[in-house]
Amino acid sequence: MAFQKSPGTQDILPGVVERWQYAEQKARDICRRFNFSEIRTPIFEATELFQRGVGETTDIVEKEMYTFTDRGDRSITLRPEGTAGVVRSYVENKLYGEPDVSKLYYIGPMFRYERQQAGRYRQFHQFGIEALGSVDPAIDAEVIALGYTFYKEVGLKDVRVEINSVGTPAVRAAFREKLLAFLMPMRDQLCKDCQSRMERNPLRVLDCKTDQARFEDAPSILDSLDEECNIHFDKVKTYLTDMGIPFSINPRLVRGLDYYTHTAFEYKAEGIGAIDTIGGGGRYNGLVAEIGGPDQPGVGLGLGLERTIMLLEHQQAELDNAHQIDVYVVALGEAAEREVTRLVYELRTSGIRAERDYLGRKMKAQMKSADRLQARYTAILGDDELTRGEIALKEMATGEQRVVALASLASELKSN
Ligand code: HAM
Repeated sequence: MAFQKSPGTQDILPGVVERWQYAEQKARDICRRFNFSEIRTPIFEATELFQRGVGETTDIVEKEMYTFTDRGDRSITLRPEGTAGVVRSYVENKLYGEPDVSKLYYIGPMFRYERQQAGRYRQFHQFGIEALGSVDPAIDAEVIALGYTFYKEVGLKDVRVEINSVGTPAVRAAFREKLLAFLMPMRDQLCKDCQSRMERNPLRVLDCKTDQARFEDAPSILDSLDEECNIHFDKVKTYLTDMGIPFSINPRLVRGLDYYTHTAFEYKAEGIGAIDTIGGGGRYNGLVAEIGGPDQPGVGLGLGLERTIMLLEHQQAELDNAHQIDVYVVALGEAAEREVTRLVYELRTSGIRAERDYLGRKMKAQMKSADRLQARYTAILGDDELTRGEIALKEMATGEQRVVALASLASELKSN
């Protein structure tokens, strides 16, 4: 029996790996300019680190971790994300003792046992950054700008930035009560996921796609922010505006990890099936202390590389399509020349992108034109074919040629 790769994993083969190298190169280059240094932490850590760091009630910790007992009877987990390990290392190596802010980045595999779908893998790769040791909202804005610049420089178009403030734990606790009061009366109408989230983490209920319409009048966390939170959030917005980073405010944006305080953000784009989030991050002022370190603040992001590369391919394919002609019709002989005007009109009005020659050129020059326009097919009509009511159809990629009835050319092209 031949072996196959495990579900949710990928082989990155020559021909595709070059795109990865390009994206990774860009990430490193941008980090160099923003003065972030690389950190490499282990791919597995003690399970408890993620339980404490990511949060016991998150989907990640509850159902997605690759956890096993090693031969020394320790509970080990393949990292589901990068932040907890970096923070562990920051504390263990006492990087907080350094006079400057620690600005760190990483690129590497992460593991989550998730249901497979387009853009969702069990081993995936993140480019992430973490800035530890400052509460300055300028760093939040710079982190958001760095991610935006990465997408822009690798060549992705139409990436949207959404930001929110999720406040401090005290603000969230008060908001939680307000939100529960709003949700309680509709509890039985909500989907199963929402019902269980109401108990564990009501803020995440607002994230539900199924029940979105019910939440129109839901209270907004932005109305519950205290003064400190408001000042911080306003400054982040001001700095982003000053840097010319376009963003929108999404008061329903709640991230899937528990450690966030103040700023939370996501990058979104269309083109990977049902998934639109391609990266995200935020500030996490309590995390370092939570995992046993001093009370040091942090802010960072994680960008999914599979999703970046899938989108690049998707957008490239759309561009290619934009240049592609479905069929170039070549006419040879007087009678055929007359027919071609009618034929091309018929094709175009039935939804096919068709082109022809208008310069009375010879067959060879017309074929060259078809090549230049990246026509998928060339249809060649001579006087003989015309009398038989036929036309020769050549698929340019394979060189394969066949004869089809003139009357069925449009349907033939459409079925391909
Ligand atoms: P996250 O939102 O869980 O954040 O993941 C960040 C990105 O990783 C996602 O937006 C997505 O592009 C990618 N990703 C996540 N799960 C999968 C999957 N199963 N398959 C493919 N791609 C996936 C974090 O992980 C935080 N550590 C980010 C952060 C850093 N916050 C502060 N610092």
